Amino acid sequence: MKRKNEMTSDLEQYFLEKSALVNRALESYFPAAAGGLSEVMAYSVLSPGKRFRPALMIAAAESLGLDASEAMAPACAMECIHCFSLIHDDLPSMDNDDFRRGKPSCHRRFGEAPALLAGDALMLRAFEIIAEWGTGDPRKALGIIGELSGASGSAGMTGGQYLEYCQKEKTLDRETLLEIHRQKTGALITVSLRIGVLIAGGGAGDMEALTGYGKAIGLLFQIRDDIIDAGHRREAISFPALYGVEGAQAFAEETAKQALGSLASFTGRRERFEAIVQYLLLRKR
Ligand code: IPE
Ligand code: MG
Repeated sequence: MKRKNEMTSDLEQYFLEKSALVNRALESYFPAAAGGLSEVMAYSVLSPGKRFRPALMIAAAESLGLDASEAMAPACAMECIHCFSLIHDDLPSMDNDDFRRGKPSCHRRFGEAPALLAGDALMLRAFEIIAEWGTGDPRKALGIIGELSGASGSAGMTGGQYLEYCQKEKTLDRETLLEIHRQKTGALITVSLRIGVLIAGGGAGDMEALTGYGKAIGLLFQIRDDIIDAGHRREAISFPALYGVEGAQAFAEETAKQALGSLASFTGRRERFEAIVQYLLLRKR
């Protein structure tokens, strides 16, 4: 049995390796010399993100016996969707953020209209990447397209952003806050795992286990994100705002237990997913 900090550093090594693979694949989809709108897209998608969602997808596929390379195209598509959401989220009419991933946000660097268009085009590029990849197995590709569009649309990430927008001037109750987090952040994290299971041809039991796990770590991810942010700026729509930083961390720990519980019925290798829960509880970026 390894001590906690050793497990964390194994996981950090794993994330570093997978994010390097994802970066290389993304560079091939977004070549530096492309110019035009592609240049705007590449600026955002190639900037140094954690690649957490692609890494989760790869981890799910690997835990069920696949090689990372077999999940790489859908993993890149996932990052395109995530990145489109970040570009639009930063716009003045949304969160109005000047910086993203340590660089000027897309609209600060290129202007609002180019940023809007780059977001649109990244979203569509995601589905194009899956369609190109899926010619050998159209059924699987169709399943992935259904999963990814559903999790990104009005019942998922985009709907969550809207729900958050609608709350701006109001006081917030716990249930609404949870629903915003589930849709805005949880949906893309959960679907990353679901698509990993789908690519690997996993059974209904494994799909259910990683879905429950995904919902819990999605929530955990956002609670920790709000706690990290609470050190920099006060977000009105967040757990620290409702319960204080300590209350939010207590809720994060409760959610971590739920995530571990969901893994009980998973038939694949579960050590990595257990380590991810520990990582999320402690993460600082
Ligand atoms: C940021 O996501 C947006 C949220 C949903 C909280 P990440 O923290 O994964 O951002 P990157 O991809 O590492 O930049
Ligand atoms: Mg936002």
